[in-house]
Amino acid sequence: MHDVCAVILAAGEGTRMRSRIPKVLHPLLGRPLISYPVDLCLGLGVKRVLLLVGPRAEGVRQALAGRPVEFVEQPEPRGTADAVLQTEMALAGFRGTVLVLGGDTPLLTESTVAGLLDAHRAARAVATVLTARVEDPAGYGRILRDRRSALRRIVEEVEATAKEKGVREVNTGCYGFAGAALFPALKRVPVSPVKGESFLPGLVEVFLRQRRRVHTVEASDSTEVLGVNTRAELAQAAVVLRQRVHERLMAEGVTLLDPATAYIDAAVTIGPDTVIYPGVILQGATTIGAGCVIYGHCRIQNSHLADAVTILDGSVISESEIAEGCVVGPYAHLRPHSRLRSKAKVGNFCEVKKAVIGAGSKVPHLAYVGDATIGENVNVGAGTITCNYDGFAKHQTVIEDEVFVGSNANLVAPITIGRGAIIAAGSTITEAVPPDAVAFGRAPQVTKEGRAKATRQKRQAMAPPKSDED
Ligand code: UD1
Ligand code: CA
Repeated sequence: MHDVCAVILAAGEGTRMRSRIPKVLHPLLGRPLISYPVDLCLGLGVKRVLLLVGPRAEGVRQALAGRPVEFVEQPEPRGTADAVLQTEMALAGFRGTVLVLGGDTPLLTESTVAGLLDAHRAARAVATVLTARVEDPAGYGRILRDRRSALRRIVEEVEATAKEKGVREVNTGCYGFAGAALFPALKRVPVSPVKGESFLPGLVEVFLRQRRRVHTVEASDSTEVLGVNTRAELAQAAVVLRQRVHERLMAEGVTLLDPATAYIDAAVTIGPDTVIYPGVILQGATTIGAGCVIYGHCRIQNSHLADAVTILDGSVISESEIAEGCVVGPYAHLRPHSRLRSKAKVGNFCEVKKAVIGAGSKVPHLAYVGDATIGENVNVGAGTITCNYDGFAKHQTVIEDEVFVGSNANLVAPITIGRGAIIAAGSTITEAVPPDAVAFGRAPQVTKEGRAKATRQKRQAMAPPKSDED
């Protein structure tokens, strides 16, 4: 595709989104809208990708950092024809095909756009328009043809008559143009009296008046052409993209018990024989191995799960790494930089942050483990807390291999519990415990034999009289 330069239009104001965020930065399956046409063009291997942006487009530049894209500024949003005209300098002398795409049509596929470019080349046309036949053409430019069905012009919704609005063949906003002819013709596109903008589809009439060949290609799958102008259309696009992701995953051997309630970002990879229960959300650059089970209503973000991992219901996992055979949840929260080594377990209502849980170690119930390194085969009892924060700084807890921490212990960091040590239940441990020691950090128990009867009598005597209303 070295004779093709792509121009992607993203300088519009996107007012119909009613958002402070630029339209093309709204996320779609974990990626900004604009990344879809950009990656499509890069995937096609075009020579250059030029992106039209408005004056306040820092966010767009940031979102695409690292991608080989040239930014061209359109100082004011004066319409799609004016936008393309801004690339005249950048494309001076280019004689190949200029591929123009909207920044807001994320569902177009490489094969459809490649088909448009092939047809454009074969037709030797000055312009080729990708069209589609849709159920509801509202909002799109309509393709108007003469009696012999030759293209006459494209009319925008705002300028269309009631009869023209009934036409169901629409402009997708994706075109191939002959580079040499494009810019002189763009300067002849009139400004719409209705909107005060110059419409790129107006080029069709300019070329036809010059008796040049304008070709059309109809997209075989009309779901691909959806333009995202509103939040409702953003949601519609997400439905289609999710379906594509689900079909790919199922073809790769993943079981989705209810594809309608699985929310899996485009970049997520999942190994075969993994089962995903309803309501699971997998986000960002998450990878999941083979033979895993992710039970209902879990959210996993930018995390890596090896093979045979089980995540029980309602768990939230972000930026963490989980080795093979681990079990997490139900209702566990693994915060960033949690690393579970092979066959570790983090169970009911536990929170882990910036911590390593060694191979075979267990944190089964109601614990907080933060800023900690736990060795192998350690048992951390229910209710144990690593007291990592003194109000000013975070401190480390180190628990060596084979340690047993009894229930409800407070480990006040910085602290090290030596290999094989035992911490008595209910202890508050403030000093290092050497290997193989038993540490008690609790008040000794006081037991008064036979005292219960006297205590009851005393309490009864002090209690207020019972009213009927109690
Ligand atoms: C456009 C087409 C319409 C087509 C539809 C397909 C025009 C006038 N109409 O309509 O025929 O059916 O796409 O989705 O082209 N933009 C700029 N600068 C501007 C104005 C817009 O860069 O001055 C960008 C927008 O950011 C957007 C794209 O161009 O990415 C299309 O603009 P939009 O306003 O969404 O056009 P539509 O009304 O959808
Ligand atoms: Ca649009």
